[in-house]
Amino acid sequence: MGRQRVLVTAGAGGIGWAIARAFVADGALVHIADVDGEAVADATRGTDAVTATVCDVTDPAGVDRLFADLQEALGGLDVLINNVGVAGPTAPVEHYDPRAWDEVVAVNLTATFAITQKAIPLLRKSPRGSIIVMSSLAGRVGYANRVGYSTTKWGLVGFAKTLALELGGDGITVNTIQPGAVAGPRMEQVLAGRAAVSGDSIDVEREKALANQSVKAFVDPADIAALAVFLAGEHGRCISGQTLPVDGDSKAAQ
Ligand SMILES: NC(=O)c1ccc[n+]([C@@H]2O[C@H](COP(=O)([O-])OP(=O)(O)OC[C@H]3O[C@@H](n4cnc5c(N)ncnc54)[C@H](O)[C@@H]3O)[C@@H](O)[C@H]2O)c1
Repeated sequence: MGRQRVLVTAGAGGIGWAIARAFVADGALVHIADVDGEAVADATRGTDAVTATVCDVTDPAGVDRLFADLQEALGGLDVLINNVGVAGPTAPVEHYDPRAWDEVVAVNLTATFAITQKAIPLLRKSPRGSIIVMSSLAGRVGYANRVGYSTTKWGLVGFAKTLALELGGDGITVNTIQPGAVAGPRMEQVLAGRAAVSGDSIDVEREKALANQSVKAFVDPADIAALAVFLAGEHGRCISGQTLPVDGDSKAAQ
């Protein structure tokens, strides 16, 4: 097989960018879809291995443009990384804004469905097709005050399991990754916010968060990226329909 051709949604930042870099380091060609033009410009600068389309994944015209660009840049597709996902508001179900619910469903579920539908004919032509879906710890346990997020992240598990059944006969594997608490600036902000409310130090808030897991470390986006590369690779060909937590053995989403 030639160089793997990979599409990463929300690939210009966060976990998606870590995945894009890991595939490039593995010799792949990566196309990213992201709404943030500046981040896309940074991601594609000075490399032939990364191409991109600036688009909102919920915009059908943008998705059409994405697949036209993908065809031109890569001429096909071996790996689809359905990474895009938004958190939505923090509120109990009874006060959760119904418009926010629609937005979270539109990005996390409907856009993922629309992009996957367009990718399937391309993946069928690949000698080793693979789809990876980014769920969350919130798709494995309940998540109080985050109903849109948790519901869609559970929904993606059913989506992936169904696809695995439908596409296995074509040699396409489909798996879900469920990251837990990920290290980085966002986690530091969350801890600082909690410290401001509790009056405890940020380090105490970190200890409290890690008390929830048996492994006392937050997840590095590179850990998730390395798993994605493995699942899509030669030795992942018999792993399908699986849901893989990368969360330090977390007991609850918080
Ligand atoms: N970061 C975490 O702690 C964590 C934990 C579990 C699961 N996840 C999941 O991993 C995935 C990536 O999360 P992240 O924290 O790296 O994301 P992020 O919030 O850092 O965003 C990554 C990229 O998504 C792009 N994006 C957002 N909405 C978009 C849209 N409508 N169209 C196109 N691009 C869009 C942004 O421009 C950004 O570049 C998500 O599905 C998220 O739910 C994240």
